[in-house]
Amino acid sequence: MKYPEYRMRRLRATKQMRQMVREHKLDVSDLIYPVFVNSAIQEPKPVPSMPGVYQWPVDKIVQHLKEIYELGIPAIMLFGIPNYKDSTGSSGKDSEEAVQRACREIKSSLPELTVITDVCLCGYTTHGHCGLIKEGTVDNDSTIEELAEIAISHGQAGADMVAPSNMMDGFVKVIRDKLDEAGFSQLPIMAYSAKFSSSFYGPFRDAAESAPSEGDRRSYQMDPANGKEALREVELDINEGADIVMIKPGLSYLDVIKEVKQKFNHPIAAYNVSGEYSMIKAAADKGWLNEREVVLEKLISFKRAGADMILTYFADDAARWLQGIE
Ligand code: PBG
Repeated sequence: MKYPEYRMRRLRATKQMRQMVREHKLDVSDLIYPVFVNSAIQEPKPVPSMPGVYQWPVDKIVQHLKEIYELGIPAIMLFGIPNYKDSTGSSGKDSEEAVQRACREIKSSLPELTVITDVCLCGYTTHGHCGLIKEGTVDNDSTIEELAEIAISHGQAGADMVAPSNMMDGFVKVIRDKLDEAGFSQLPIMAYSAKFSSSFYGPFRDAAESAPSEGDRRSYQMDPANGKEALREVELDINEGADIVMIKPGLSYLDVIKEVKQKFNHPIAAYNVSGEYSMIKAAADKGWLNEREVVLEKLISFKRAGADMILTYFADDAARWLQGIE
């Protein structure tokens, strides 16, 4: 018998041949750039735990996003840091707050850039939880009514898509119904469907100033040990009318992305979260990893797992690398 029986290395011999048999491709159109807007600052403010990431003043965000748009990145995910917080998160739906003002500015200057808005309460409440607190716990049903109002205010400000990230039960249906009633039946919902209670969100909570002042998010976000439960979450959101389902974080949950891809036919977004960003930044800074190589390898792994789009703080660098701009 011949040995080896088959020579896999034949098709790896040249760059051209490797390209011909490449199964997945990463394209700049796969990327969504998350960005923070703060209504109380005049100059961009660096986020210490996320080198290269800033909070942007409303007046300067368009200038920054023009560069993002010119790199070919089709969409952004907008997070707001408001001027004021209270126990019910009322600044979330305030038409004069950061997200709403930024939406209006961006849509008037860069109408083709798709603006997705994060719809949650954690950045707007004094306690930092993703919902309204009643009798010591996050109250599900009153929270989703409030979230629907935030979503409507984003629609009124011109958002192209809303992304509720709260992990309340039944949130997609209530938000869908209320959006429809308010005349936004064309506004798509990207649901944070399988959002795990993850320690990889640490740096984001610095960036969004949204860490809970007491307790944690385990009574609403998912247990990292559960895969089947993630499929049930996705199924519920799809049945309630989600247009895109998200799995978050991405990197430690590639198995979930793959299973969702196999089981459902909805577009899938993977969120390459803050901690996954900062780990690479820190290692690259020490010279322990090649940032560019590692980031591109990681992004293609999301595609291989089945993600149709990737939210990543590396979107701008990745876009430059994909286009050969250093
Ligand atoms: C808000 C929200 C969080 C992230 C996105 N939306 C934080 C959280 O749930 O604590 C995390 C994103 C990241 O880590 O990059 N609910």
